[in-house]
Amino acid sequence: MSYAIRPANEADVPQLAEIEKEAFPTTWPATPFKRELSNRTASFLVTYQLPGNRRPVSSVSHERPGEGSDITTRGWRGLWDRLFQRNAPASLTDNPADYVAGYVATWYMTDEAHITGIAVRESLRGNGLGELLLMASIELAMRHQSRVVTLEVRVSNHVAQSLYSKYGFSQVGSRKGYYSDNHEDAYIMTTDPIFSPAYSQQLTSLEETYKSRRGDVALGLG
Ligand SMILES: CC(C)(COP(=O)(O)OP(=O)(O)OC[C@H]1O[C@@H](n2cnc3c(N)ncnc32)[C@H](O)[C@@H]1OP(=O)(O)O)[C@@H](O)C(=O)NCCC(=O)NCCS
Repeated sequence: MSYAIRPANEADVPQLAEIEKEAFPTTWPATPFKRELSNRTASFLVTYQLPGNRRPVSSVSHERPGEGSDITTRGWRGLWDRLFQRNAPASLTDNPADYVAGYVATWYMTDEAHITGIAVRESLRGNGLGELLLMASIELAMRHQSRVVTLEVRVSNHVAQSLYSKYGFSQVGSRKGYYSDNHEDAYIMTTDPIFSPAYSQQLTSLEETYKSRRGDVALGLG
């Protein structure tokens, strides 16, 4: 099986709740996903199973500020399009029966894109889906003209920290007792400016590596 990215829709809400419950069992109250989906300053992407053995694609359909300008057609953003988006079949991306494997939620605040939640179904972890979701979220942050991408992560969550470090997030601070269930501290992890040449270069390299590693079939989980 292969996986793709698309914006979440209302039909996904039961699956989003299921994934959240599995990934964050102590989250209370549960995220009001239905309300979140209508939040104009946020984006909700899901990775979902494609029928058959199609290659992974992205069908992010959010409006691009400045579409057509150099900024959207140059560098790693153009690479993303070439690698993932060009072959996205619209007819496959709106099927409410899609099986959702994971999600990423991002809020856009002033010049920051703040990832508020990212999770993959436990049975599907370790197959590049978290990475695909994070890449898609960074791509959307660029389309929203965000300067940096930031998030909080439990100090004990080494798996997530490893994913974020891989994508250039570094620890810029911490929040004492941030998590209400066990009062665990959070690290604040933030990227360098995402339009900087160094970060763009890092993303290009990561995307190329992802493509050669997961490629057309490697993301298939069947
Ligand atoms: C964090 C999470 C989203 C990662 O998703 P995933 O699909 O399993 O991760 P991927 O397969 O895409 O792996 C990407 C990177 O994550 C890190 N990673 C993934 N699994 C790991 C593991 N078991 N041990 C250490 N690092 C790991 C690695 O850096 C990996 O890159 P690599 O393959 O080059 O080593 C997933 O583990 C999850 O849903 N966890 C529960 C929810 C959660 O903790 N969310 C984060 C809240 S801040």
